[in-house]
Amino acid sequence: MKRAAILGTGSCLPKRTLTNAELEKMVETSDEWITVRTGIKERRIAGAGEETSKLASGAARKAMAMAGVGAEEIGLIIVGTMTCEKVMPSCACLVQKEIGAVNAFALDINAACSGFLYGMDVAEKYIKADPALKVLVIGAENLSARTNWEDRSTCILFGDGAGAVVMGGGEGERGILGSRLFADGSLWHLLHMDAAPSLNPDLVPVDYHGPFIRMAGQEVFKYAVRAMQDGVVKVLAQEDVAPESVKLVIPHQANIRILNSLTGRLGISAEKIYINVHKYGNTSAASMPIALDEANREGRLQPGDLVLFCAFGGGFTWGAAVMRW
Ligand code: ACO
Repeated sequence: MKRAAILGTGSCLPKRTLTNAELEKMVETSDEWITVRTGIKERRIAGAGEETSKLASGAARKAMAMAGVGAEEIGLIIVGTMTCEKVMPSCACLVQKEIGAVNAFALDINAACSGFLYGMDVAEKYIKADPALKVLVIGAENLSARTNWEDRSTCILFGDGAGAVVMGGGEGERGILGSRLFADGSLWHLLHMDAAPSLNPDLVPVDYHGPFIRMAGQEVFKYAVRAMQDGVVKVLAQEDVAPESVKLVIPHQANIRILNSLTGRLGISAEKIYINVHKYGNTSAASMPIALDEANREGRLQPGDLVLFCAFGGGFTWGAAVMRW
């Protein structure tokens, strides 16, 4: 049976860069504090015409061009997002219209920062059932629209962007060997974002503070490291893959200290962990496909390489996948 492989990658970032120096003028912080605590130097902030669905469509077009797959050939569009400009229809439907994928059905996945990983897993199941199917899996976010710009403990972390892949039946050994996904909804309160204000006064939460991201940073940090490690250990054991045979790790780009702690625990050397968090901050569901696209275009991936993906996000949600490139 053919495995589900990645046939092309793409990404799309907003034009405007917001540096740490600019943030110093907005809240009481410093470039040094942000750099030491997070590794982030700058992030992209969307402007007019760079709504989540537009960034998603831009990334999708690049992935389709690399794959040599036309919009009419796409049978399914999956978008991992929690910040689309519309609640209804889905971001995936807006992308379908924007790129002209008239033969695709379309759905969003809200698994926060794990959205792209969850999306790849769903795509894999459809492709295994029909290896001729071509699936667009996208991670896209406008986190700047849901950031409290007066809260220095969160506003320094996030950025906007989108990444995409075209998936389909792979030749030979290419494709996803296996994946493991997890969730623990009992910990939702450690990292969450309320919806826009309810128009039904009886349904306004008593502790409503506004529709932006709230986070218990140190708790999230600890869970993120442990959970991603657990996901990686389980998927490598499941597929009988030795950590040292992994050629490249594409982790969710949360912050550099989480990635450094994770690296120390995985038994995989640091130079195999792809990092671009310094340029884009944490772009949630978009971070893995953006990192994958950059690594791919830099020539970091060769046919036959084993690539490891791992993510953690609000929910909590987390998991890992291993793929032969
Ligand atoms: N600039 C300067 N000082 C700050 C800032 C800031 N931007 N933010 C907080 N501080 C202050 C705090 O007020 C506190 O001051 P105090 O000691 O006088 O009370 C001090 O710095 C230490 O605050 P902590 O919250 O303890 O700082 P910590 O070392 O935990 O770092 C951080 C905060 C970076 C958020 C860290 O907890 C972290 O990385 N958590 C993971 C969160 C994360 O990545 N979330 C993303 C979503 S989940 C995901 O993608 C995996």
